Amino acid sequence: MDYGPAPESTKEAQAWLDQHGRRFGLFIDNAWTEGAETFASNNPADGSELAQVTQATSDDVNRAVEAARRAQPGWVAMGGHGRAKVMYSIARLLQKHSRLFAVLETLDNGKTIRETRDADLPLAARHFYHHAGWAQLQSEEFADYRAVGVVGQIVPWNFPVLMLAWKIAPALAAGNTIVFKPAEYTSLTALLFAEICQQAGVPAGVVNIVTGDGRVGEAIVNHPGIDKLAFTGSTEVGRIIRKATAGSGKKLSLELGGKSPFIVFDDADLDAAVEGLVDSIWFNQGQVCCAGSRLLVQESVYDRFIAKVKVRMQNLRVGSPLDKSNDIGALVDPVQQQRIHGLVEAARAEGCEIWQPSCEAPVAGSWYLPTLITGASTSAAVAQTEIFGPVLVAMSFRTPGEAVQLANNTVYGLAACVWSESISLALDVAPQIKAGVVWINTANQFDAACGFGGYKESGFGREGGKEGMYEYLTPLSEDARPSAPIVAEKGKVKASDAGSPFAVDRTAKLYIGGKQARPDGAYSRAINGANGAFLADVGEGNRKDIRNAVEAAHKAAGWSKATAHNRAQVLYYIAENLAIRAEEFAARLAAMTGVRDPQREVAASIERLFYWAAWCDKYDGAAHQPPMHGITVALNEPVGVIGVICPNENPLLGFISLVAPALALGNRVVAVPSEAYPLSATDLYQVLDTSDLPGGALNIVTGSADELARTLATHGDIDAVWRHDGSAEGCAEVERLSSETLKRTWVGGGKGRDWFDAKQACGRTVLQHASQVKNVWIPYGV
Ligand code: NAI
Repeated sequence: MDYGPAPESTKEAQAWLDQHGRRFGLFIDNAWTEGAETFASNNPADGSELAQVTQATSDDVNRAVEAARRAQPGWVAMGGHGRAKVMYSIARLLQKHSRLFAVLETLDNGKTIRETRDADLPLAARHFYHHAGWAQLQSEEFADYRAVGVVGQIVPWNFPVLMLAWKIAPALAAGNTIVFKPAEYTSLTALLFAEICQQAGVPAGVVNIVTGDGRVGEAIVNHPGIDKLAFTGSTEVGRIIRKATAGSGKKLSLELGGKSPFIVFDDADLDAAVEGLVDSIWFNQGQVCCAGSRLLVQESVYDRFIAKVKVRMQNLRVGSPLDKSNDIGALVDPVQQQRIHGLVEAARAEGCEIWQPSCEAPVAGSWYLPTLITGASTSAAVAQTEIFGPVLVAMSFRTPGEAVQLANNTVYGLAACVWSESISLALDVAPQIKAGVVWINTANQFDAACGFGGYKESGFGREGGKEGMYEYLTPLSEDARPSAPIVAEKGKVKASDAGSPFAVDRTAKLYIGGKQARPDGAYSRAINGANGAFLADVGEGNRKDIRNAVEAAHKAAGWSKATAHNRAQVLYYIAENLAIRAEEFAARLAAMTGVRDPQREVAASIERLFYWAAWCDKYDGAAHQPPMHGITVALNEPVGVIGVICPNENPLLGFISLVAPALALGNRVVAVPSEAYPLSATDLYQVLDTSDLPGGALNIVTGSADELARTLATHGDIDAVWRHDGSAEGCAEVERLSSETLKRTWVGGGKGRDWFDAKQACGRTVLQHASQVKNVWIPYGV
């Protein structure tokens, strides 16, 4: 028996398009503009034109930003409850009109009605409900934060209305106003959403929707009136945006591409895993950033599993996306079809085996049959490039260790699936995979309460959950930061104070892998005291020294696995050993900087070490209960290896304030101490040696801050760079150069920070920079 056709009616959607004369302007300040230049939005399933949509100009973007700016204070003044009510209305209206949205989305995008109806729309509504809740609780849960201001949001075409909800809901909840740009292929549901905003009573200017291609995106990115950018799309454009915003002070979150592994162990329920695989790679024709596009199967069950996959592929129904019994719809545009075709044919030419089921795709429109590629090497383009289509590349592995190694053999780190009936094995593997989401015995699960986002070149920042809210908030302490670095009050330094306890060895080396090391270039730089007298030489670190330090940091991976209790003990121990030598350090500070009350800085540094030691075993993750039978565990994981450029002000306290939280959360650090006053850091070597800190966990390279920062920012094996020395240009450069490998950055810009002030130097913001959240989904039940 075969399925009969079960087409969904398009009557209402067509009527809605007709009602607008099939021509749409922009939605700015609660009014529709007459679009001058327009382009066609087509139905990719048959190539027919649905409507003409406006290509916004930079003037349009200006007007949208101005409207958003004007509206922002009023939106904040409505208070959490006021905003929650509006957002609740949006959620209700999305539900009420969900069928119209689903059909319009299917027409415009080509994805199946089953997906738009059962996944995209319910999830979009859930996002507004969930975030109405955060608006309601804002004054309690985010009391020390304010809205960022005007946010620019740019989304792709694969989940048009769902991505809109992911972006707009948290931004509104936090009190921001929005300039939103849908992808040029799929603008229609965003335009329908504008009408929902009007009906829900969203005040004028709070949500502005401008349509058009990448040029409109660029205008938003470069607009000086935008305070934060949130982007989902290709890694290539993500990089461009990182570069374009470097040094602008704009907050940024990027959700980029992926090449996610789908790992099947030999003890997995193979039939369930096959179904999971269908959801993972053939959901939305594989046009999913977190698609499980790399199948890794344990060797002993590989042949059996591949045979099952082929049988299942043969049963996938390809055809009209409006037919409720079809599994595979159309690709968004012929451009994507050509792109996929090119990648698959290149793999064929390289000798890979290409397998497709024996069905036929419709002739008109843009289609691609479900495809399985075997025999590809791990470095082949199809194994490394995001194909963004219904194409699966399969490989085998022998041991769990090899599975992890293959899974991590990618520049991306968005998601992973692990299939095993052994929870012990699955939970052992999950933390070893460098990805923001791990699904155990399930795939492509999303919920508004659970953060989503990537590691490595899959971007940074999270969407959903509490961590997603922070992306749209600014700590109040940021506003308190002085506009220039603080200059300590100077006293008079006697010549005899200068360097007196240090007269014996006057050349400080570098500190790499737990040992003092001579600088590679064999050069040193003289450090003079506040009274002009020579104090000591320090090593002039160069590119090679940084490389050695990074290598040592990678070897010290054990620090990231040490227990939180153990890390706390080490930090307490450093504090204790520093306290023993407090007088010496105070004298050094006085000699170097001429600060009047050096004891105060030493005491504050000891306290700061205690502070971060205290946090080690208290920055726990969360256990979410999304609407499924199971739990989602949000783990706060270390970022990895962090390069830290420390401030000149308060050279000891500034150094400790940045290095200690990074270490506390299990990161390994390559620190460049104050360029002007590095000796309090080099004096720490002996303190570190006697404090049980494993070699390589903290490496210290002295020298030129600019030069060493450049090397850190361009290094391929560093996960994040922090720069807080008050150099606006230097910070901009770090952001710009980090775009190549999309490192996380935390820079202070040209502003100062009062390192004594706990509000500016401590707290959750620092913890968030020192960690990244991994959500592990664990369904259970029999
Ligand atoms: P894209 O990254 O070019 O487009 C995404 C959005 O960014 C669109 O709204 C586009 O108009 C806008 N945009 C383009 N250039 C921009 C610029 N310079 N500044 C600001 N905004 C800009 O993605 P595209 O070309 O549609 O797809 C190409 C490939 O990217 C796909 O084959 C896929 O591999 C990947 N991709 C990944 C997505 C993900 O969710 N990870 C989503 C879409 C595409």
